[in-house]
Amino acid sequence: MTATPILPSGVLPVATAIDLVQVTAAETAQVQAVFDASEDFAMLVDGFPAPPDEAEKLLAKVPPGSDPGDKAVMLVRLGTANIGVLDVVRDWPQRRTWMIGLLVLVPAARSRGVGARVLATVDRWAIESGAEKLRIAVAPANIRGLRFWRRHGFSPVDVSRSGPHRLERPVIGF
Ligand SMILES: CC(C)(COP(=O)(O)OP(=O)(O)OC[C@H]1O[C@@H](n2cnc3c(N)ncnc32)[C@H](O)[C@@H]1OP(=O)(O)O)[C@@H](O)C(=O)NCCC(=O)NCCS
Repeated sequence: MTATPILPSGVLPVATAIDLVQVTAAETAQVQAVFDASEDFAMLVDGFPAPPDEAEKLLAKVPPGSDPGDKAVMLVRLGTANIGVLDVVRDWPQRRTWMIGLLVLVPAARSRGVGARVLATVDRWAIESGAEKLRIAVAPANIRGLRFWRRHGFSPVDVSRSGPHRLERPVIGF
């Protein structure tokens, strides 16, 4: 006889505190583990799983003309579990615009409102730092990702036929 699971969804949301913890090179493996757990996203966007040095590259790279001190890579934590990665670049591509370079949650953490809470935190942090706009680049194949950003008020700023869609919106509260 198959036992009925005591938790039908497998998850009981007791702890709701979600933290954003800035990482350094010492936590590269934790960031890479989130990428490895989010293989569906890499397959959708790149067509292949994240290479083993993806986290290392994320931590090392800054956009052209940007300063390493303007970029923050963060682990999204639920308790002690790493459930996502966020990176933000301040004042890029222009002053007072903050670029969300990446927001990826592991599959089990999606569609539970975590992304919305992370975004609200970025808004608060951005406005406290004097930013006016948030920007994001989304791969055209990422239809659900686009829907998430559109629902949160982002609209396209330049539509290219080949590259990613670039969307922006004012910082909420600005
Ligand atoms: C996009 C993302 C950050 C949104 O965070 P979230 O906590 O799942 O979002 P919410 O619970 O507030 O809302 C759920 C919505 O997220 C969006 N979403 C995007 N990709 C998704 C995915 N692979 N699985 C579930 N929801 C996804 C959808 O719009 C979804 O709404 P829907 O059920 O109507 O399709 C998260 O789903 C994720 O990490 N997805 C994979 C990576 C990704 O696409 N990142 C964005 C890159 S630009």
